[in-house]
Amino acid sequence: MTFTGASGKLMALRPDVTLSIVKNAADDGRLKKLYYNETVYRPDGFEFKERMQVGLECIGAIDVTLTSEVLMLAQQSLEVLGKPTRLDISHMGFIAGLLNNEVLTEEQRTQILQLVSEKNLPELRKFCQKYALSSNFGTSLATLTTLYGSYKSVAKQLEHMCINDATETARHELEALYHVLSTQGVLEINLDFSMVNDLSYYSGIIFQGYIDGIPTKILSGGRYDKLMRKFGKRSDAIGFAVYLDLLERHSQTDDFINIALPKGRLGEKAYNIFEKAGYGCPAIYEDSRKLVFESPENGVRYFWVKPSDVPIYVQRGAADIGVAGKDILLEYAPEVYELLDFDIGKCRMCVAAEKGFAPDQLGRTLRVATKFPNIARSYYEKQGRDIDIIGLNGSIELAPILGLSDVIVDLVETGQTLLENDLEPFETIVDISARLIANKVSYKFNYDAISKLCQKISTCL
Ligand code: PRP
Repeated sequence: MTFTGASGKLMALRPDVTLSIVKNAADDGRLKKLYYNETVYRPDGFEFKERMQVGLECIGAIDVTLTSEVLMLAQQSLEVLGKPTRLDISHMGFIAGLLNNEVLTEEQRTQILQLVSEKNLPELRKFCQKYALSSNFGTSLATLTTLYGSYKSVAKQLEHMCINDATETARHELEALYHVLSTQGVLEINLDFSMVNDLSYYSGIIFQGYIDGIPTKILSGGRYDKLMRKFGKRSDAIGFAVYLDLLERHSQTDDFINIALPKGRLGEKAYNIFEKAGYGCPAIYEDSRKLVFESPENGVRYFWVKPSDVPIYVQRGAADIGVAGKDILLEYAPEVYELLDFDIGKCRMCVAAEKGFAPDQLGRTLRVATKFPNIARSYYEKQGRDIDIIGLNGSIELAPILGLSDVIVDLVETGQTLLENDLEPFETIVDISARLIANKVSYKFNYDAISKLCQKISTCL
């Protein structure tokens, strides 16, 4: 974004420093090691945020030794605070190789990348079924999505995912890197293939760094030869950035799994599933207005929160996991893992209107009343239809009756509310149910406890 400042100078808000470095670096084949300390402006959910960023770029002929040097510097950067850290690696060659093995539309590729990054196995399965994708592809995607651990512990499964040259090359590169890193004594790096960065920017190894108690990634980087080619440069490149201002978000951690439950009937049903799986907390039945309940024996702490706030608690790390309706997840698009479908709280997100309403004969912008403006906007955007959103907080069915809107986008469970108000559903946008979500960083630091909990819960669903 560029604009003229008060002094008449041309100013710019940069989304990225790497782009300027790539543009200005001489492509003379000589190795360059560069660093910067800058403020950048990045999309964050539905808005832009200012970020203080320190980064390094290594440009030239990048081999495995240079890659390991960059990774070790990343790890040392994380360790400066003296807190427990994680540095996780992925290789874009796996997801790119898998996607190129199937005939997929651009939209399908985008959806798959999104589901992989959410570790959303239930939706991935449905997706493969819906588009009749091969079972081999489905299995490889499932492995890619769920695999998490050291190179040694996942090496065997990686072999099964090698279905073409691209995936085979990726595996060899990871193997070579693992050997160099282990000779340097760096063994604590995990592989996580659900980290998928921009495929048009990154080409090989990518990595992310985390510090215990900070709810988001604090360091991110990778090999970006593809970006170099876009600028017509022959050199390879690898680099990373550390997001300094995120260090302030540090919070206390303890041995409990913190669980955000949606207040109300859905939360009670969800709690019953946790209890059945061995995560009971009898104090929760106390007749009180308390909002926090602990069971030290079972290592869990429950919070009752407003249903639409569950993703906020989880994304910001106040809760490690939580139960949220798919409607809330689609509306707020939180940066979380979506691990299980609880198969409760089932309903549909629908377009409804007065009986006989014909949207195509309207001849003007469609007026849509809803509590879910983002879901409604994205649904009509895909149809190429211009709409006027009327944001309401409840009793949505009133809007078409009083002539406030032409249609509503709302949840339909039994259909009784529509029926009693002479409205009818005429399109289903998406099926809804409650999902188990997890903070991406808590998941990594509490991997054993959270994956055990998921396993136990799966058997109760
Ligand atoms: C939800 C939804 C519908 C109704 C659908 O409203 O917004 O109005 O339930 O249920 P049904 O198909 O079983 O009739 P909610 O009860 O959350 O109240 P609200 O009107 O305040 O949003």
